[in-house]
Amino acid sequence: MSNLKKILLEKVSCKSVWFMRQAGRYLPEFRKIRSNNTNFVELCLNSELSSLITLQPIDRFDLDSAIIFSDILIVPYALGQKVNFIKNYGPELSPFDLEAFLDVKERNFVKSLDPVYKAIEITRRKLSKKKSLICFIGAPWTLLIYMLDHKRKDVNTILNYPDIHIIIKKLIKFLNIHIENQISAGADVVQVFDSWAGLLPEKELESFCIKPNLNIVEFCKQKKIPNICFPKGIGKNYEKFNNIVKPDGLSIDYEIDPEWAKSKLLDTVIQGGMKPSSLLKEDNEMFETAAKYLKAFNKNPYIFNLGHGLLPETDPDKVKKLIKFYRNFNG
Ligand code: CP3
Repeated sequence: MSNLKKILLEKVSCKSVWFMRQAGRYLPEFRKIRSNNTNFVELCLNSELSSLITLQPIDRFDLDSAIIFSDILIVPYALGQKVNFIKNYGPELSPFDLEAFLDVKERNFVKSLDPVYKAIEITRRKLSKKKSLICFIGAPWTLLIYMLDHKRKDVNTILNYPDIHIIIKKLIKFLNIHIENQISAGADVVQVFDSWAGLLPEKELESFCIKPNLNIVEFCKQKKIPNICFPKGIGKNYEKFNNIVKPDGLSIDYEIDPEWAKSKLLDTVIQGGMKPSSLLKEDNEMFETAAKYLKAFNKNPYIFNLGHGLLPETDPDKVKKLIKFYRNFNG
């Protein structure tokens, strides 16, 4: 069993490190492939290249887990929206069409995502048995930001959208299908990214973030799929989230104090926390920040990671140094 799975399922304390957004942006070997593949969605759906990119950070740093190279927006794509990644701007989706969305059949959805499952199969064959292969989805709220109002990110437009709860229900159903298919293809852990949870007003957190995450985690538990949730930016509500959703693992963002997390986020495995910009600082400052987390969780099962994704401007040598520091750290 991979050590990530061991930590999540058996709650044992052992070393395990991977980084959100480890496959991509900051790696020259990724940028080289990317420069020859200008259509990002097509790149995500190229199983051979996706697998190659997934393994790039493993080959370079010998991390304990690989995360499949894909994107959270591949699900809105498979549900009928065109997805365009615009340089120096980000993703843009074609206008949402409720009727077409509600009309999408499971068979067609799965067929569109088949290259992702193939990429997972290829990667699992090439990846050492000791290492975990993580698959992921975007949580409904975070996907809705892109699907319904990416340009303005006006929360009220989404909260007041007609039939919003019908949309969320269909999203959850299809996200669960995507999780199950990724696991069947050879992934062994799922991470649920709710990157925009912090935009929700407190009174809406329960229905737009906590409940959908709970539905997904309950599905995973029923299927015995190890899961990690990342409700970024919800501050003290991490405690409420954890008490209700009870995921196997909880990824904390860089605004969460590790000591607070240790005392309040119980019966789960904490992952991450460190600010991604720490890797842009001098070595000593970076190590000091890392030590704060490693000391706090010294006696707890803990997955070393960051409080959000690696920044595109990160020097890969810094990543290497940080991993070495982690591997040599003894309380
Ligand atoms: O983690 C990994 O390395 C695996 C692949 C992965 C990507 N996106 C590839 C990618 C993962 C796990 C994601 C998740 C993702 N995608 C999230 C949640 C995590 C987070 O960072 O909050 C979100 C919100 C997205 C949506 C998205 N995709 C945005 C906003 C953008 C543009 C800006 C950016 O973050 O890079 C993307 C594009 C994207 N997804 C790139 C990569 C490698 C960059 C593509 C490029 O080269 O232009």
